[in-house]
Amino acid sequence: MVQGYDGGVRSTYRARIGQKADNQPMQGKRILLGVTGGIAAYKSAELVRRLIEHGAQVQVVMTSAAREFVTPTTFQALSGRPVRTDLWDAAAEAAMGHIELARWAELVLVAPASADFLARLAHGLADDLLSTLCLATAAPIAVAPAMNQLMWRNAATRFNVELLTARGVRMIGPGVGDQACGEHGPGRLVEPADIASQIAPLLSPAGPLAGRRILVTAGPTRECIDPVRFVSNRSSGKMGFALAQSLRDVGADVVLISGPVTLPTPLGVRRIDVESCEQMYAAVQRELPGTAIFVGTAAVADYRPLACAEQKIKKTSETLALELTRTTDILSQVSASTPRPFMVGFAAETNSVEHYARAKLLAKNLDLIAANEVGHTKAFDCDDNSLLVLWRGGRVELPVSSKRELAQALTGLIVEQYLEQNAARERDSARELASEELAAREGARAS
Ligand code: PMT
Repeated sequence: MVQGYDGGVRSTYRARIGQKADNQPMQGKRILLGVTGGIAAYKSAELVRRLIEHGAQVQVVMTSAAREFVTPTTFQALSGRPVRTDLWDAAAEAAMGHIELARWAELVLVAPASADFLARLAHGLADDLLSTLCLATAAPIAVAPAMNQLMWRNAATRFNVELLTARGVRMIGPGVGDQACGEHGPGRLVEPADIASQIAPLLSPAGPLAGRRILVTAGPTRECIDPVRFVSNRSSGKMGFALAQSLRDVGADVVLISGPVTLPTPLGVRRIDVESCEQMYAAVQRELPGTAIFVGTAAVADYRPLACAEQKIKKTSETLALELTRTTDILSQVSASTPRPFMVGFAAETNSVEHYARAKLLAKNLDLIAANEVGHTKAFDCDDNSLLVLWRGGRVELPVSSKRELAQALTGLIVEQYLEQNAARERDSARELASEELAAREGARAS
């Protein structure tokens, strides 16, 4: 048990942290699956099967374009429910009107979501059953886009996606790869099994970070010397994986970007495997939109060989000098992005731990930093650790404990600082709004 950390407000979070992740988050849950027009619509049939296997009740709503690709009969057979297609279907409305349907849903999932549908959702159109339901529901909405890669990259789609993410619509993918149109790039529908695992957190019991998206990096990176050799470090990923799990346990929608480790993926966490710093950075950039909190636990290599030899380097000389170059500082880059997530960094130091950690807190413009003394069998690749947590207004020492317990305690601090920062921001904007209104009223009176 972590000591020196149970008083005041924090105990509230500690109690919440005690909540365990639900192993059957979909059991009995009511999912409204919207299917829009696109070649990937055939994969939605598999998605219905997956959701039902997880115990969910699935009501399918198809747009008219979707019916050009798959027939409602397929979905009816798989879901065991008549498929809804029309806003003006008197018989269906008599059984369950579209507003009732919107209320019935505990989650609205649109997969595949076409570029057209994203645009209509972003702009609040309500000209068919699915778009109307989305406007009328209080349930969380998740969309799994699927489209041609140029359509996905188009500035109009980027704008719509940003608008939707900022409003809390969860984006699932898209994946990158070969497309039905013969092109290659982002725009593939995420595989049905992965969609199912990504929506699970949205259906779990709420926690203080419910619905917040968190990116966690973990593990080491490997920087290529030649096809069989690399520069790396001793990180096992245990600290980062424990954090991903405890953040998931407080309701967050966690994406874990991991270097090469041998750990199982925590339940309810979406994991992306990478090898080098540059791959980790690319994955972070891809996953960043909509991220509320970024946690950099990874032991990212600071330097990489200037070039990766194409062939295995032969031992032809007594000594071999490797020229190294700086890698991208992922944490600093994310911290400089707009919108900027709440930033949590780590500091691994062999000496003057607090001094160097404070310098990193400022230099990397972080909201919170967890420092650990490393080396001589400390922190790297072991089950226990201790942390000194610093933020601009405070510090907490978390003494030696298991990484799982430390992760829970650190999660409590992250929740506390993040919510405090949000509350302060809301107070500021309410104050700003009030003074603008006052100025407008005074202006109107004077004229
Ligand atoms: O994985 P384990 O075996 O469980 O060990 C856990 C740990 C010791 C690796 C972990 O607790 C830890 O300290 N992680 C950070 C390691 C590190 O790289 O520290 P740093 O002081 O060099 O870097 C400072 C911060 O910048 C870190 O958040 C790091 O993720 C980030 N960074 C560093 C370099 C880089 N190119 N990009 C980065 O984002």
